[in-house]
Amino acid sequence: MTTTTRRKIAEQATAFLGEAYFELGKSEEDAKRRIQEVLEQIEQTGAYIHTYEELKHGAKMAWRNNNRCIGRLFWQTLEVFDARDVRDELGAAERIFNHMSYATNSGRIRPAITIFPASHSDNRLRIWNHQLVRYAGYRKENEIVGDSASLAFTDACQKLGWRGAGTRFDVLPLVIQLEGKAPKWFPLPQETVLEVPLSHPENSEFEQLKLQWYAVPFISDMALEIGGISYAAAPFNGWYMGTEIGARNLSDTDRYNQLPTVAKLFRFDTATNTSLWKDRALVELNAAVLHSFKKQGVSIVDHHTAAEQFLRFEKQELDHGRAVTGRWSWLIPPMSPATTGIWHRSFDDTERTPAYRYQAAPY
Ligand code: ARG
Repeated sequence: MTTTTRRKIAEQATAFLGEAYFELGKSEEDAKRRIQEVLEQIEQTGAYIHTYEELKHGAKMAWRNNNRCIGRLFWQTLEVFDARDVRDELGAAERIFNHMSYATNSGRIRPAITIFPASHSDNRLRIWNHQLVRYAGYRKENEIVGDSASLAFTDACQKLGWRGAGTRFDVLPLVIQLEGKAPKWFPLPQETVLEVPLSHPENSEFEQLKLQWYAVPFISDMALEIGGISYAAAPFNGWYMGTEIGARNLSDTDRYNQLPTVAKLFRFDTATNTSLWKDRALVELNAAVLHSFKKQGVSIVDHHTAAEQFLRFEKQELDHGRAVTGRWSWLIPPMSPATTGIWHRSFDDTERTPAYRYQAAPY
């Protein structure tokens, strides 16, 4: 390790510890003592080990700092599971399944993160999945069956020996790779995957479309960076905002492309753009998503409420002397954005750390 990387880690560690210890209400002496200890560890080993308290607060700060997330009002409620002691794939899979059951909580979704060994540890690992629950995508002659966003990963799973049933909604397996070893895959235990079949509040024919989505979005391919230390495997979850499913996953023409199908069901005139059939189908599909999750008792937020919560988050942060950063193009919902307060604002898109970052796929 070069002296410059060492210096960088030391700088980031110092900045993080100063900020975190202040927020945690610790004394200046405590912070100074800990920073000294950490700097010595970095000098000797090139890295340092977070206390559980640092890990926990760092993961929350990273959520709070995520410019793309509209749901940040709840950053303090994140449950942090420490899995830095994991040694093998099965051990990792068990931690993940426990996280999934805890988070799913029969529908009363709880935000959580499981943090696996840091990237400098010899027991480091990667999770290949983009999300822990995700539907497979298959290329058939002239069409794609399932989720086109999963084509490459589905291919990788098949190369590892996994076989899906071939439906539009096959749940992909969990793929875990320990440093220097071949990846291993595990089917998700049934009790870890909650799904919601879609129905419409007024149109009883909607169920015939046989649409569904899974209850919990668990992002599993981002790296968590805290004070110069990177955690490449740190899957986390919140709950869905309806439009993610209704206005993107099921609607995008290169995803499930369901607007023409929904328009037909409602007998909207698809021969002309001026009937606004796409807009009307969007409204009905999104109403179905919110209705179905509510009916099944699964947590979900509509985009109007989420936008209000975001503006409350901003106010709450200002009250604590922190200015909120954000990326406007991500914060506005993909449906009726100008009906929310976020639309009429602008945001500073400076990226702060701790942070959740994209990283290259291992497959
Ligand atoms: N947009 C992604 C999806 O539709 C999920 C991203 C995280 N979303 C969340 N509500 N925490 O699957």
